[in-house]
Amino acid sequence: MEENLVPSHVAIIMDGNGRWAKQRGLARTEGHEEGLEAAKRIVLAARREGIRFLSLYAFSTENWKRTAQEVGFLMSLIRTHLMKELDFYRENEIRLVHSGDRSGLPRDVLSEIDRAVEDTSHHRELTVNLAINYGGRDEILRSMRRLLSNLSSSAAEGAVSVDEAVGAMSEKTIALNLDHPDIPDPDLIIRTGGEMRLSNYLLWQSAYSELYFSSKYWPDFTPEDLHAALADYAHRERRFGDAR
Ligand code: FPP
Repeated sequence: MEENLVPSHVAIIMDGNGRWAKQRGLARTEGHEEGLEAAKRIVLAARREGIRFLSLYAFSTENWKRTAQEVGFLMSLIRTHLMKELDFYRENEIRLVHSGDRSGLPRDVLSEIDRAVEDTSHHRELTVNLAINYGGRDEILRSMRRLLSNLSSSAAEGAVSVDEAVGAMSEKTIALNLDHPDIPDPDLIIRTGGEMRLSNYLLWQSAYSELYFSSKYWPDFTPEDLHAALADYAHRERRFGDAR
């Protein structure tokens, strides 16, 4: 594929682990285990395809509504993966970053995330952005809070007037206070599992993303399926609101 036709940033909503397991008479947790294996295969495939940023929706702010057993399993799966499989990221020169609300995460999960992020920060082949306790609305809210808190302290110090502070709110300043202002907006968002919605993923950043839906359950999504999604993307005409 020509280089400029490869999306720089691909984001994936990895849906269908539970249904994959149910179809086989297995527990939902076994679907998540297989889902993690699929994620590792897709990370390597993304690197081979020349993608620079891969965002993966691993745990949403809404996923806390699941049973305590499933939530506990997912937290433990993510923590153990980061703890025991860091070599996977080291050997493949992959940089890990985290998106989401840190304050709601268990301390032991946070410390593994922080260690993995720190340990892989110098890698340059591919950036994997793991969304854990992530919600798009929550990310926008956290950005606005950061921005307002900075502006109100400047206003309180008399450095800027309230009017100037209000004037400083812009699309640019909101974007600059999101979790990763350095990561470009996703060119392509893939969702597996047959549903056609964004489910609160990257709401701000998806304004002009191309969307691709696969009916396959996430554990069945293969590197060939990723390649097919990229081939489909290469034929899209992106106008970003401009005329033809
Ligand atoms: C959605 O399927 C999947 C999740 C909520 C969890 C996704 C997590 C992983 C794949 C493992 C963690 C990955 C990494 C890279 C650390 P679902 O349970 O909603 O499936 P269903 O719609 O069929 O019930």
